Amino acid sequence: MMVSRMEGSTPSGRCRILFVCLGNICRSPAAEEVMRALLREAHLDGRVEVDSAGISSYHRGDLPDARMRRHAARRGYSLTHRSRPVCTDDFFRFDLIIGMDDGNMDALKGLSPSLETDGKLRRMCEFCVDKAADAVPDPYYGGAAGFEDVLDILEDACRGLLARIESGMDANSVENRYVSR
Ligand code: 4NP
Repeated sequence: MMVSRMEGSTPSGRCRILFVCLGNICRSPAAEEVMRALLREAHLDGRVEVDSAGISSYHRGDLPDARMRRHAARRGYSLTHRSRPVCTDDFFRFDLIIGMDDGNMDALKGLSPSLETDGKLRRMCEFCVDKAADAVPDPYYGGAAGFEDVLDILEDACRGLLARIESGMDANSVENRYVSR
């Protein structure tokens, strides 16, 4: 499946992606930074914007969990996002809204204000290329292996997402030239 929301991106080809988990202190801020690093490598950081948010507001204003930051730093990612809850405006501002597990997806469907915004919702693991995971498991109450597992899945899914974006942009470029004429 193509990332069809790319067809809805602006004539300049810009695209905005929001990663969502429960607390916005472990999985989604890590996803945001993994994706940002891949976009930088692909020279697409000027065209694709990434952010993250949580279903809950328990950790509003907090930096990512210290364990998540430590594990991510070992792979070269610096996590500096401040936790914030998803808001209604996110459903209009972002082209893709990507949840980590069933609970996130159910909550996002409940918050989505319209059928059109329902169409922006995706599961992170649908972008996995090598990993057979169905969800990015919540690492909060587990040990170190859980945080490594999260990063392994996120790195795989973000590679797949980048490939979809690149193919979507190729498909879009003719249309975009037409629109801007
Ligand atoms: P996240 O992990 O959803 O990946 O940020 C969690 C963080 C905090 C809690 C649960 C999950 N919590 O219960 O506070």
